[in-house]
Amino acid sequence: MRRKIIAGNWKMNKDHREGAALAKEIAAGLAAARTSCEIVLIPPFTTLPAVIDAIHGSAVKAGAQDLYFEDEGAFTGEISGRMLRALGCTHVLVGHSERRHVIGEGGADLSKKLRAALRNNLRPIFCVGELLGERESGRAFDVVTGQVRECCEGLEPEEFSRVVIAYEPVWAIGTGKTATTRDASDMHGIIRILLKELFGTAAADQTPILYGGSVKPESAADLLADVEIDGLLVGGASLKAESFLGIIPR
Ligand code: PGA
Repeated sequence: MRRKIIAGNWKMNKDHREGAALAKEIAAGLAAARTSCEIVLIPPFTTLPAVIDAIHGSAVKAGAQDLYFEDEGAFTGEISGRMLRALGCTHVLVGHSERRHVIGEGGADLSKKLRAALRNNLRPIFCVGELLGERESGRAFDVVTGQVRECCEGLEPEEFSRVVIAYEPVWAIGTGKTATTRDASDMHGIIRILLKELFGTAAADQTPILYGGSVKPESAADLLADVEIDGLLVGGASLKAESFLGIIPR
């Protein structure tokens, strides 16, 4: 059994004061409720220290939204995996759809970022997903497996065993349109077949594959009940303790 992961991607929301308050509320809510899921909060860089402070002593973990692929040096404006690890982060998003499609990051850089995360002992949550036009033209499976292959191929199975995959169809992110559980499950199954080919059955079977895209308390239980869906990457609904806690099964 793969342990379910529920991650809250705060995107560019919550300054360090707001973030500390939200993280405390979430940690307190979880302490009262108990869950078997792994919970990860993913605030902006400047909010991270306050969140790490606020969740200290709880089971909640902290992740970053991005990292640079070098560990240090003359890279103005960038933050390295080494810095994130030193701060107390355990996870980092790599290749979130907004990084790919709004900021313009491509596979070559994302491959390096994935490796930088692993090198620094962070668990990368590697995001993949197709655009609406790609789904409508029947290319969703090819696009998504292509994204996984492009960045993950060549890793040793032992390295890959620390990677989390998040399938987030771009047309479902922030739009209120969730993929059906069936569509998400089918895509997760296809990804897992590719992982078997690349890394062997044992590594593929233990890789968590999360779904993301307009997850709400009302849609979470059905998604999480599917054997192929190992957790959720939540954006908008992670910005309020009540809705985030409402997504987490007890
Ligand atoms: P959303 O965002 O839940 O607001 O659609 C998900 C994500 O981008 O990770």
